[in-house]
Amino acid sequence: MKLLIVLVVLCLGVATLTEAARPVSTEVVQKLKELEPVYKQLQDKVISEVAGAKLATATATDTFYKGVIADKETSLTRSIQLEDDMTYQFNGQASSVDASCLQMLRSIVDMNMNVAGFGYTNCVNNVEAGVKAELDRVYQLLQVDESELFDISLLDVFKGENIISNPAKIIAKLTEKRSEIDGISLSFVADINAAVNAYASRLGDMQNEYKSCLLGNESVLKASFESTKNQLVQTCLGAIV
Ligand SMILES: *[C@@H]1O[C@H](CO)[C@@H](O)[C@H](O)[C@H]1NC(C)=O
Repeated sequence: MKLLIVLVVLCLGVATLTEAARPVSTEVVQKLKELEPVYKQLQDKVISEVAGAKLATATATDTFYKGVIADKETSLTRSIQLEDDMTYQFNGQASSVDASCLQMLRSIVDMNMNVAGFGYTNCVNNVEAGVKAELDRVYQLLQVDESELFDISLLDVFKGENIISNPAKIIAKLTEKRSEIDGISLSFVADINAAVNAYASRLGDMQNEYKSCLLGNESVLKASFESTKNQLVQTCLGAIV
């Protein structure tokens, strides 16, 4: 009889052990395994979105600078062409035209070129101040505080818990953790992308302003040359060649 009881107790013991393959405890680890890549994906997305926005900003800045440099080159080429045209006029005058009168006009052309140079510098100074302000503004917006996202601990669910005796509580905490991660709003992505687009478009506007500033100053230079040509004919008694 005693033996039987011992046997029964033993059998019960084995049964309990087998049944207690602790599926809930095992589930804790499974859940953790599922959650970890979700968290990693979130971090990757944040990093790549922020990096993408920064790259797009750098590209916009690059496009802007290339455009401004090209405008500057075109404008300089046109101004030099205007001066060359004037020089051509002076060189083509008959020897009967008073040399010192011509020399005065050459000086005037030289002066007017120099004055135009001041104008061009002012045009570029305006652009420089503008782009600096825009850059400061967009980088301010790109300063995303990622620490809030990256500060989540996946392992604090175990704090004060026992995976063997009460895994269900850990499961509950993991579920909560999952909602926390899923609930992290990536709405800032739309915000930073909008900021970068606005930046690119403001740079485009600034480049157009720069272009018209150069063109305006070129017109003034051109007008001064027209006046010089007039003096050449009317005052120095030369001719347009
Ligand atoms: C010439 O340049 C100055 C300085 O940038 C600018 O203020 C002015 O508007 C320009 N002139 C014209 C006619 O565009």
